[in-house]
Amino acid sequence: MIREFSEINLLDRNSFHVEQRAARLIEFDRWEELHTLFTTQRPERWMVLSGGNNILFTQDYDGLILTPVAQGIELLRKEGDEVLVRVEAGVEWDDLVAWAVAHELWGIENLSLIPGKVGAAPVQNIGAYGCEAKDMIERVLGYDTELCTYTALTRAECAFGYRDSIFKRALKGRWIITAVEIRLSLRANPQLGYGDVAREVEARGGATLKNIREAISDIRRSKLPDTNLLGNAGSFFKNPVVERSVAEQLLATYPDMPHYPAADPDCIKLAAGWLIDRAGLKGTRCGAVGVHDRQALVLVNHGGATGSEVIAFAHHVIRTVKERFGIEIEPEVNII
Ligand code: EPU
Repeated sequence: MIREFSEINLLDRNSFHVEQRAARLIEFDRWEELHTLFTTQRPERWMVLSGGNNILFTQDYDGLILTPVAQGIELLRKEGDEVLVRVEAGVEWDDLVAWAVAHELWGIENLSLIPGKVGAAPVQNIGAYGCEAKDMIERVLGYDTELCTYTALTRAECAFGYRDSIFKRALKGRWIITAVEIRLSLRANPQLGYGDVAREVEARGGATLKNIREAISDIRRSKLPDTNLLGNAGSFFKNPVVERSVAEQLLATYPDMPHYPAADPDCIKLAAGWLIDRAGLKGTRCGAVGVHDRQALVLVNHGGATGSEVIAFAHHVIRTVKERFGIEIEPEVNII
């Protein structure tokens, strides 16, 4: 069922809580509705806005916003000790994790409490605590607005990378995700290697799905601001991937600098949160925008900030880190 709005205020539809307007917004739940739209009254300018958790509006949007709202989690089939599940794009990601944990299905428990909808998960390949959505995604289903067909992409075709996929690149502005198929396992496979996870899980009595979900949720709550109380879009910046020699030079000066292997063996991933923190920016603010005081990767709207003010502050953070460490960090958030 389509719901349509015109001249809509987006304040409650973006987790940064910036006030911008869109000329038109359509909530849809079936690909056939998109097909009718694109074959009969094709919009000149359009974009998808899902949960609005990874976006920063810096201006009003004069085109059409499409928001998937379809609900439903369906068990498609069982294959040995694995199951294939189809999830509609409008399902809250964390409701899916809660469903999997309640059904004793392993795979996405480390991705507990990530804000946003299922349809957005493949776009930036959401990840946390040693897991990424790509590890479980089997296929992504959606509407190709160029070919005007409903189609599916396999995991390999999605070209997933760190906070990256084909949906941010070649298919940006062309494809609309309507559902995701994920593979979960009946076999226990706890992933406790990241940070404090093992300790927090042990403190709750061991590696059950419920304990892992609780531990991860508590760790997130302790570091990341609640978007209902303080506008933000999670990590504002990506962790920079630099050449090994650059990381080694920095490590000679800062031996305690966190660093991780990158997909490319000649490169090293650094922690943007650490760089921002050590540049002295954690907890600082300019007007209504600031760096969160418990996780420096997160920029927050203390109330009433505009998107342009957030951008200006983000540039100040980028400049300061560059001056201090010679590293250029980049926004992870989608800036409109
Ligand atoms: N650190 C600091 N100060 C800070 C923040 C971090 O020194 O203010 C240090 C930490 O002590 C740690 C390192 O930096 O040694 C990494 O920090 P953390 O483990 O908190 O993770 P992150 O790299 O800052 C990434 C993801 C998060 C995800 C966590 C946990 C990105 C851009 N961010 O953050 O994802 O929850 O790992 O896996 O990759 C998100 O994408 O919105 C998000 C929150």
